[in-house]
Amino acid sequence: MRAAIYPGSFDPVTYGHLDIIRRASSIFDELTVSVLNNNTKTPLFSVEERVRMLEEATKDLPNVTVDSFSGLLIDYADRKGIHVAIRGLRAITDFEYELQIAQTNRKFSDGNLDTVFLTTSLEYAYLSSSTVKEIASFNGDISKCVPDFVAGLIYEKYGFSR
Ligand code: PNS
Repeated sequence: MRAAIYPGSFDPVTYGHLDIIRRASSIFDELTVSVLNNNTKTPLFSVEERVRMLEEATKDLPNVTVDSFSGLLIDYADRKGIHVAIRGLRAITDFEYELQIAQTNRKFSDGNLDTVFLTTSLEYAYLSSSTVKEIASFNGDISKCVPDFVAGLIYEKYGFSR
């Protein structure tokens, strides 16, 4: 059984994330998408809200489950008995940051956690959760970035009804 974890903030989930989830779920038998509960960031959505959005957005993928975690990814992966983390790469700038984290995770897990990178489809290469939030905060159009129900929830957070 080949299992993988796709960790991230997912604040909120975008079409870029969903592209990675869909492709990773076709490579691995089981994919756990896991939301980091990070006390140092002030997210737009609570962990519970982000989990619910991911569950709704991935409900057509039977081998995908959604979870959350706190602390180190290597400890969470160890508890779950999973040895592969998935990360999406949009550009070379992502790579520099991701390479360091991947190597740290591999080193500190004594080789028990490897990272598999998927390159984001070109149509989503520009996309990030931060950009989506910035556009939405000015009541801009984010319909090309996130599913409709996610867009509705984002606008709601910024006090817009669309
Ligand atoms: O979506 P993001 O914010 O780019 O995801 C980053 C994430 C969650 C993958 C990364 O910050 C993470 O794994 N954090 C948990 C703490 C940890 O294990 N850090 C890596 C060693 S420095």
